[in-house]
Amino acid sequence: MIPMVDLKKEFDEIGKEVIDILTEILESSHYILGPKVSELERKISEYIGVPAAIGVASGTDALHLSLNALGIGEGDEVITTPFTFFATAEAIIYTGSKPVFVDVEADTLNIAAKKIEEKITDRTKAILPVHLFGHPADMKVIGEIAKKYNLKVIEDCAQAFGAASNGKKVGSFGDAGCFSFYPSKNLGAYGDGGMITVNDPIVSDTIKRLRNHGSKGVYRHESVGFNSRLDEIQAGILLVKLKRIEENNNGRTQKAAIYTKLLSGKVKCPQEKDGFYHVYHQYTIMTPKRDKVQNTLKDSGISSVVYYPIPLHLQEALSYLDYKEGDFPVAERKQLEDSKYLMVRKKAQKELVRRLKEKGFGNKQIAMILISNIYGERKRLSIAKEWAGSLGISLEEFLKLIGR
Ligand SMILES: Cc1ncc(COP(=O)(O)O)c(C=O)c1O
Repeated sequence: MIPMVDLKKEFDEIGKEVIDILTEILESSHYILGPKVSELERKISEYIGVPAAIGVASGTDALHLSLNALGIGEGDEVITTPFTFFATAEAIIYTGSKPVFVDVEADTLNIAAKKIEEKITDRTKAILPVHLFGHPADMKVIGEIAKKYNLKVIEDCAQAFGAASNGKKVGSFGDAGCFSFYPSKNLGAYGDGGMITVNDPIVSDTIKRLRNHGSKGVYRHESVGFNSRLDEIQAGILLVKLKRIEENNNGRTQKAAIYTKLLSGKVKCPQEKDGFYHVYHQYTIMTPKRDKVQNTLKDSGISSVVYYPIPLHLQEALSYLDYKEGDFPVAERKQLEDSKYLMVRKKAQKELVRRLKEKGFGNKQIAMILISNIYGERKRLSIAKEWAGSLGISLEEFLKLIGR
């Protein structure tokens, strides 16, 4: 099976250098906040084009500590995208603030910057765009809105190390740029790790304190902080990989261009908007025949993953936010459920009901079988309605049959 990420192949290429640097670190016995972390911070700040970079324990912590350092907390609202990895919202919630979602653009699947303003209230304190799959979000528009309403901007750059917009790298636009070094990322460690890039020296100082128990000096604690340090071993590995990041990202864009040439017109290929440098953390296609395509890939020995099958606003853990299905149709990929697909599904449902009836199943049993299908696709009322239709009964009767 061709894996999603081949870290073994990469290790075959860089293994000797990695082992040399690990040996150097092990011989120095300096493991926490030592010279390798400082060197990596300096090199990444130069590469991204900001005055400071601070190594932390993960991308999630990078977001959490940034929000914290920027004063986001209890009762505040942070505008973000519902189409991202869960950690984006988790970090907001850790601070006691509330994620407020805005739907995504159909082409890049990044937050629809032009819709942000509609969601601003007097509690809004920050905007947290995600540069999804490696394509930068529209930082020009986001920057203008932030300026107009005096909001902080925290960039989730976890999937976009090296991505740029008009030559300016992501992580240099906002008040903080948050990177993840999770092993599969474009710049990945051999464990967890993260980095925050900042323009303001005061914010940088606060984050440095927060990552180390609120302490600047030894055993002096100015505030309550966290234990969230990048370690020397991960920093050493990242220094080896950082040398190759341009080559790695360019390789991705070249391969992406080949895929797009071959797949255009057959599926919806990822978009590369003018002026944006996409680093293809993922090459993500869209098609109404998703399951069929995925099975064909599997049969051909090629791994693939569905990103993200349940957008954040429909995640059980966030049900307290009171969003419902249909709130963010693009993130829910409603447009892919075109009428043809729906017709095929409805036909299949009717056929299933017919066969179950033929086998002597009663309405209640059939309803229970059907509802287990709904759970597979989340509890969708609209689907429940369709199932009820297939049984020739009303939605109310259907829900009664299944005890709701
Ligand atoms: C968009 C996004 N944000 C945040 C994170 C969290 O990063 P980490 O896994 O390093 O905590 C990830 C990582 O997977 C991510 O993809």
